[in-house]
Amino acid sequence: MVYSQAKVIAGGLAHIPILIGIFYFIMTFFNKRAIEYAEANKPKKVEKKVENPEIKAKSAAPTKIEAKVVVQKKVSDSSEIKTEPLNNKEINNIEKKSMKKKHADVPVNIYRPKTPYEGTVIENYSLLKEGAIGRVNHITFDLKDSDPFLNYVEGQSIGIMPAGEDANGKPHKLRLYSIASTRHGDNFEGNTVSLCVRQLQYEKDGETIDGVCSTYLCDIKPGDKVKITGPVGKEMLLPEEEDANIVMLATGTGIAPMRAYLRRMFEATEKEKNSWNFKGKAWLFMGAPKSANLLYEEDLQRYLTDYPENFKYTKAISREQQNTKGGRMYIQDRVLESANELFNMIEDEKTHIYLCGLKGMEPGIDEAMTKAAEEKGLNWSELRPKLKKAGRWHVETY
Ligand code: FAD
Ligand code: A2P
Repeated sequence: MVYSQAKVIAGGLAHIPILIGIFYFIMTFFNKRAIEYAEANKPKKVEKKVENPEIKAKSAAPTKIEAKVVVQKKVSDSSEIKTEPLNNKEINNIEKKSMKKKHADVPVNIYRPKTPYEGTVIENYSLLKEGAIGRVNHITFDLKDSDPFLNYVEGQSIGIMPAGEDANGKPHKLRLYSIASTRHGDNFEGNTVSLCVRQLQYEKDGETIDGVCSTYLCDIKPGDKVKITGPVGKEMLLPEEEDANIVMLATGTGIAPMRAYLRRMFEATEKEKNSWNFKGKAWLFMGAPKSANLLYEEDLQRYLTDYPENFKYTKAISREQQNTKGGRMYIQDRVLESANELFNMIEDEKTHIYLCGLKGMEPGIDEAMTKAAEEKGLNWSELRPKLKKAGRWHVETY
């Protein structure tokens, strides 16, 4: 009896190592899974240099919402679930959330005014031809020593902090400038950023006043160090879709973001780098005071030759051409001339419209769009907010 009890106990004890083994195996399995999960969710460290700066700046356009089919809400808790379409407010909220999510990987504020990046000027040259009015320069900065790396996408801006102090002895505040290069930069190496800057000059009490930052930028020389902040801005991002149509309305330096878009679409080496095979229509309306003030004209002519099916270029040269009323020819006059074709494009939900440059052009553009829409039996004051909500109407004026 005693012997058989001892045998049972001994048998039981003999199971202990087996149980420990099983327990150890289970613990190891769960630990491994936990480590894998933690690794997968660990925030990514910012790389100093971006080998391939083809950051997925996902579309400015929201995911298309099929209100009738996909977006429905549950209206009953009963076992039979009934659904009904969401109302406009609910759809808008979803669109906003989806746009925020889509733009989440667009870089912003890598450098702020307290700790700006000191970039070196690579080049600074005039974009104007003889006989032009004023000063407009193309300026490129080296970003390769930035750490964290100052990367950006087309349609964003950077801040420039001019050297020196204001009238109160305080450092000058930063000014924003639209980026005129693609994320790969003018040299396609992904380590520079370019701007298109007009020197501000105006008369006051018989004296010519030079704008602080624009004059500083037009005067800087290769090798100079410049304090840079940013990048900022998500208003002017390009949609991701290769078959999107892009209508661009620019006055003067408002061409800056458009130059980046057009390089992304049509510049051979840039296309190799970005593997974005643009198949839509790009239509640029460009306003300049004189022919000699047209910016990046040779490049634009080349794109017209290389991509006649995809690129259209309409100029309004205010001081050389006249509108139908005998006044200066502005881009809004050109918009009116092309009302039918333009609104056929706008009715296509793949079309985005970008407005950049002088703030003063906004009322004129609005008026022209109102008339142009009327000719198509449309109401611009109703249509514009809809385009805006759909992420298809992009404005950056200054
Ligand atoms: P300041 O010395 O700051 O002088 C400007 C001030 O002078 C004005 O605020 C006003 O008080 C006064 N002033 C101006 N005109 C007159 C006048 N006619 N009469 C009396 N007073 C006057 N600029 C570009 O060149 N290229 C760009 O790509 C570009 N992109 C921009 C993008 C964004 C998002 C924004 C907001 C602005 C952009 N700008 C761009 C404008 C730029 O930021 C500066 O505002 C511009 O260069 C003038 O700055 P400044 O320091 O030279 O002038
Ligand atoms: P203008 O100056 O002849 O009146 P830039 O920045 O190189 O001066 O170019 C800006 C262009 O925009 C110029 O042709 C200018 O014409 C034009 N422009 C000025 N005011 C408006 C406006 N309210 N709407 C549209 N274009 C304008």
